[in-house]
Amino acid sequence: MYATDDLRDEHEGIKVALAVLERLSDDAEEDKAVDLDDIEHIIDFLRTFADKCHHGKEEELLFPALEEAGIPNQGGPIGVMLAEHVQGRKFIAGMVDSLQGLRADDPDGRGKFIESARGYAELLSAHIFKENNVLFPMAEAHLSAAQHEKLSEGFDEIENERIGPGVHEAFHALLDQLDEKYLKSRV
Ligand SMILES: [Fe+2]
Ligand SMILES: [Fe+2]
Repeated sequence: MYATDDLRDEHEGIKVALAVLERLSDDAEEDKAVDLDDIEHIIDFLRTFADKCHHGKEEELLFPALEEAGIPNQGGPIGVMLAEHVQGRKFIAGMVDSLQGLRADDPDGRGKFIESARGYAELLSAHIFKENNVLFPMAEAHLSAAQHEKLSEGFDEIENERIGPGVHEAFHALLDQLDEKYLKSRV
């Protein structure tokens, strides 16, 4: 059991949110009505679950453990992952900025939403692919079983402190509901 197994599971949840964002961007592009409550819920999920909690586990615990094991930060895979987390935050801020315009059905708001949502979905999909296939295998090869166990304990602490008990389940319920509404029923 690797600590990275938890992070891989979280990637699957984040990928559902990314696929829904793509669908919402298609709808906005085709001038269809978009459900603003759903967009706000996705932004909340991305800020809280994906960024504060998941990226927090990576930045505060996994990446430092990898650096200690000799994987370079600057100019190496960790530096690239960190830069992509920063870029992701800018796209989330762009989506937040677009909400007012979307609410007023202003074409600029729509355009800004489409650009930020698509930018985020593309960035994070490629980011998750790199972590799953390059960075996490490094952690699985270079860190001991005891280090993985220590990381898992730290991940639980971050999760309790950042999102608290019950909220994780609420986010899963949200993802199931969005999956049903935007993905399963509209293949
Ligand atoms: Fe990451
Ligand atoms: Fe990740």
